[in-house]
Amino acid sequence: MGLFTKLFTQTTKEEEIMTNPKLKIGIILGSTRQGRLSPQVGGWVKGIADSRNDAEYEIVDIADYNLPLLGTTDGTEPGIAKWNEKLASLDGFVFIVQEYNHSITGALKNAIDFAREAWNNKAAGIVSYGSTGGARAAEHLRGICGELKIADVRTHPTLSLFTDFENFSVFKPAELHKANINAMLDEVIAWSGALKTLR
Ligand SMILES: Cc1cc2nc3c(=O)[nH]c(=O)nc-3n(C[C@H](O)[C@H](O)[C@H](O)COP(=O)(O)O)c2cc1C
Repeated sequence: MGLFTKLFTQTTKEEEIMTNPKLKIGIILGSTRQGRLSPQVGGWVKGIADSRNDAEYEIVDIADYNLPLLGTTDGTEPGIAKWNEKLASLDGFVFIVQEYNHSITGALKNAIDFAREAWNNKAAGIVSYGSTGGARAAEHLRGICGELKIADVRTHPTLSLFTDFENFSVFKPAELHKANINAMLDEVIAWSGALKTLR
């Protein structure tokens, strides 16, 4: 790349960041089963996020994309391209993670595997739930993030199936989690902004 082209490209990138300062953050629902709890958790996170007024937050539901099982089709299903386009349009992510057999769901792993560049050089926060706050699933996700050049932030709100849900089904989060969600979002916004300059 010539010096002029490099300078010009840098300028347009900086201009874009200055004229379009609101970052786009996708809140990704990691489960797809019928009766899943993730929409309740994702909706609660979005409510807190929206009240900050610092980014455009949206729920990204894997179930909407009808992704096949990776490798079982010729890859021409429209949902695959749509999924990649959605991820590419985002500057950062909040993963809503639930623990299935001490790991993330197969649906989330499958969806993650369907994209590569669209994940790179972006930040992510993790909000997890399970009997031990979904901690084991979240730690697995951190390993996957490393491979995809997703910068996963430190603050990690963990929700307990025993104390943050009534009858393991109605989400009633303890008040203390709100501060943790905000602390996690502070980190996601800071890193998403910084990484935007790198892309
Ligand atoms: C296949 C399966 C495996 C599970 N394994 C675990 C587990 O290892 N640890 C845990 O804490 N909860 C486990 N659970 C409980 C889930 O965390 C709980 O049902 C949660 O609500 C699932 O998220 P969802 O409702 O969004 O699908 C499991 C649930 C399922 C369906």
